[in-house]
Formats: sequence, C-alpha cells, structure tokens
Amino acid sequence: MGKIAPLHQNVKLFCAVTSDNHIDWKHPVPAVPMWYLTQSLKDAEKSLRPMDAYITVGDTTSRGSDRNWTMTEKCFKKANPAKHIFLTVGNHDLWHDEGFEKARENYLNYSNRICGTSHTETWFSHTVNGYKMIFLGNTRDAGCEAHLGEEQLRWLEKELDEADGRPAFVFCHQSLNGRHGLPRTWDRNESATDPMEGGIGEESDAVAAILKRHKNVFYFSGHSHMGLCGEARKAAEGYASFEREDGVELINLPSLACGNHHGDDRSMGIGVLIEVYEDRVVIRPRNFARHTMNRKVLIRNGKPYLEVPVQKG
Ligand SMILES: [Fe+2]
Repeated sequence: MGKIAPLHQNVKLFCAVTSDNHIDWKHPVPAVPMWYLTQSLKDAEKSLRPMDAYITVGDTTSRGSDRNWTMTEKCFKKANPAKHIFLTVGNHDLWHDEGFEKARENYLNYSNRICGTSHTETWFSHTVNGYKMIFLGNTRDAGCEAHLGEEQLRWLEKELDEADGRPAFVFCHQSLNGRHGLPRTWDRNESATDPMEGGIGEESDAVAAILKRHKNVFYFSGHSHMGLCGEARKAAEGYASFEREDGVELINLPSLACGNHHGDDRSMGIGVLIEVYEDRVVIRPRNFARHTMNRKVLIRNGKPYLEVPVQKG
C-alpha cells in the first residue's frame, strides 16, 4: 500500500495508463467497473509527484451509449488525476444501437468534455513535456478489429518522424496481430483459429513497419483482457505482456475492470505507470485499486518492471 511515486529522481514525463474499463449500465453490478475506474483516478490524483497524463487504451465503455458515457463522466468528475486526460477509442466504444456514426459522435463529444480537448477525429496526438503521445482510432466500424486507413497510417509515420528519436508513445486499442500470445490468448477458451484474431487485423504489418522504422517507440494496447504475464511465461509459453521486437517495445495492458485470463496476475485494477528520464524509460505495472506496485511478476531482467535505456542516434 502506498501512494504513487516515480522510481527515480528527475522524471520528465509521468503518466498513468489503464485499459478496458468497460463502464456498462447492463453490468450485473454497474457500480463495480465504476469503482475500479474511480479508484484508479483517485490513486493518480494522490500521486506524490503530480501526474502529467492519465490515459486509457480503449473500451472505456462496453457500448458507446449516452447512459454509459454519462456514468463514465461521473467517475472522472470525482477526481483530478492528471494535467492531461486522453481516452483512446476502443471497439466497444464504437458500438451503438444506432450505428457507428452515433457511437463515434458520442465518443468525440463525451471524451472531449472529459479531457477538455476538441478532437474531431478518433485519432490525434499531443506533445506533453516534449514527448509525442499518439492515439490511433477506427475510421469505420471494423467489428473487433481496427481500421485506421491510409491517411492515418501516413500521419502516424509523420508523427513518429517528428518525434525525432525521442521516446514516443503510441496507443492503439488492438495489439499487432499474433503478439502477446494471440490468437491463443484472445479468450480464455483459446478458441480463436484465425491468426489475425484479437489483433489490429489487415493493417498490422503496415503499422509494425512504421513503428520499426523509428527509435524509442513504445506501443500500448489492451483489448484481449489478458492478465499480467512476465518473462517466465515468455520463456515457458512464448508470450508476455511486455514484448520487444526489432527495438520496438510492445506493452499489452490487462482489463482494469472486466476480468482477465492467461495471466500470472489476473487481478482487476492493474495498469501501468510511464516514467521518462533523460537516459531511460521505465514502465511499471501498478494495481491502482490496491494502491500497490507489482512485485510478483518479473517483467524483464528479473525486475518487476520494464527499464530500458533511450537508444541514441
Ligand atoms: Fe475490452
């Protein structure tokens, strides 16, 4: 138990990230996901070093109805978690009885109000303390997959070019295809047969190629509701929550409030802290509901968190 604090001194960027909150008035007990979201916001608010950003990686709601977004807004009004709030759009946020356009409109209206932004698209970027934070989002209904489109892919390349080698953070609800144990880890029954299932879909290779052309890129996803998996599982089963591929760090977050499977820690309430220092980036899992840092799941090099040097040149 304890308040959030950076691992080292002189942190230059300090953020909290959660995913898959799934606020849902149809939940058997709607107060449960609301409680987890509110706990994470209050935990961030009490941080000993004020947080620069509180970020979600999609599926903030289970369906993008006014009722669910009103409940979400109510949670955000209970705390002041960070200087900036950014909500990545998820496939569930884009599902609405009246169709994709209504869901998209609700996402933009409610998230702009919650975050104090004026986005006109589901994809956008902000520079916080000199570091690029890039948020990808669907441009049409694509079921459980992503559909970003050529314009957004060109924009992603340009955004990462502009980061100019400084650590850059990309948030997309879906992970790249086949990473983090997908499609096996897509559901608890391991029923997926399509190799693309649970991932971005057809644009996965294009996104991966863009990420790999740049240095110091950190790509965050959620979507599969896989619990926290460490390096021992990577060795034994071939997958983990934190993976590295051609210099790109891939981080898959558990569901904050909707239950998890395939994890060494399947608790609800888990997200991560991002800490950027002059010469390194640290990403540490935290249980925002229990107010504890992860100690039991070893992430890399025997440490219960990720710590990587900033690549030069
Ligand atoms: Fe989800």
